Amino acid sequence: MLEKIAVLIKEIESFSPKSKDEIDDFRLKFLKKKGVVNSLFNDFKQLGDTEKKEAGKAINNLKKLVEEQVAEHTKSFVVEKEEVKIDLSRPVNLESLGSKHPISIVRNEIINIFASLGFYISEGPEIEDDWHNFSALNLPEEHPARDMQDTFFIQTNPDVLLRTHTSSVQVRHMEKNKPPIRTISPGRVYRNEAISSRAHCIFHQVEGLYIAEGVSFADLKQLLLYFAQEMFGEKTKIRLRPSFFPFTEPSAEVDIYWGLETESDHRITKGTGWLEILGCGMVDPAVLENCGIDSKKYSGYAFGMGIERIAMLKYGVDDLRLFFENDIRFLKQFSSL
Ligand code: DAH
Repeated sequence: MLEKIAVLIKEIESFSPKSKDEIDDFRLKFLKKKGVVNSLFNDFKQLGDTEKKEAGKAINNLKKLVEEQVAEHTKSFVVEKEEVKIDLSRPVNLESLGSKHPISIVRNEIINIFASLGFYISEGPEIEDDWHNFSALNLPEEHPARDMQDTFFIQTNPDVLLRTHTSSVQVRHMEKNKPPIRTISPGRVYRNEAISSRAHCIFHQVEGLYIAEGVSFADLKQLLLYFAQEMFGEKTKIRLRPSFFPFTEPSAEVDIYWGLETESDHRITKGTGWLEILGCGMVDPAVLENCGIDSKKYSGYAFGMGIERIAMLKYGVDDLRLFFENDIRFLKQFSSL
């Protein structure tokens, strides 16, 4: 028996597997229920007492050796595998870069155009009170013009609302600053509108305000022509149509000439060739007085435009909802801008 064990031990010691499967086969051969080790133990029972002593030791030794070989070789296979996993020579996967949202791109463009003319940015809260959003702008309670802007009110307090336009920032700015004032106020506004391709309950505006001595309507017109040409190209033509806003007098809406070349030009300009881009006017003296500015000494102009509207024109987007859905296929198209 001892000789048999010596032969087996040689076999165990020289075991050098080439795969994990070979280790498994090896382990099973020796250690499974009907494997070599157990069959040695069976033979062991037939031995006499003196032989048993040495044979017992030798079998235990053999078993230990098998276990050590299995553990040792398994370890080396695990290590080898990990080494394969960390391949430092592999090229890295490039992370794809995100893109700016088209509304941010257009907002920044608008800001840059006015900043180049000396306008600075001012901001106000999106949750407003009645005074700053309506009353100070010549829209007293029960004034029919309030109907032009369906408003979200805070249920428990009708004095608190989500601002319907960034004109509220004009009021806040004039209350705190003395002329000359030359500011633009970009921001988000809210209206209680059914969502469609042309309207949304959330959108963005940029408000502009210039107050100084002797400001005239001609100054306003020149500024807006400059803006339109920077935004839409130097050949852009504008026209001013008389309009009404309670906070400006006189008031106007500004159209740009879009052309009537294609079928879609006809559709979006309703056959006129002209497209409205903003509202504007000379700040009503009553509004100046409401904000603590002497209307005999100072005059000024104001204007307000929707960022989505400008972005739709600039990029030929015909559904406003695309700006809010964050569909990656839509947004990706602006990645080079
Ligand atoms: N607040 C107006 C609106 O949301 C836009 C506007 C028109 C702003 C004329 C002005 C302005 O400052 O003078 O419809």
